[in-house]
Amino acid sequence: NAQLDYPSNRLANVADLAVNEPMDIEYPDADSPGILLKLGQAVEGGAGPDGDIVAYSVLCPHKGWYLTYNAEDRSLNCPGHFSRFDAEVGGQQIWGHATQNLPQFTLRVDDKGDIYAEGCSDLIFGRPSNVL
Ligand code: FES
Repeated sequence: NAQLDYPSNRLANVADLAVNEPMDIEYPDADSPGILLKLGQAVEGGAGPDGDIVAYSVLCPHKGWYLTYNAEDRSLNCPGHFSRFDAEVGGQQIWGHATQNLPQFTLRVDDKGDIYAEGCSDLIFGRPSNVL
């Protein structure tokens, strides 16, 4: 687990988000889909006025299948080989074949409520290194 710095990209504004309704994003580039999510309660690493906004890659760290979000238990789930990741605990793996937690994008919220991604917690699937 090594924090990686990427360029700062504006993803959305706090006002664009509804609790537990993920927004599709791309970060740091179009080859890296993710979700931006307001959880409704403060979590570790959560950004924004309520400390509850998080963002994750949706490429499974195992073999890169697209994860889907389960709003009931706030997890990201892989249809490939069923790995599961907890959106409330920094993308921690709950179960499965992946050998790392889900990459979490580092967020900053400015005083206008604009949300910027500025880094990533782990290697994004398919990249030999976390450089653009
Ligand atoms: Fe997700 Fe294998 S690609 S568990």
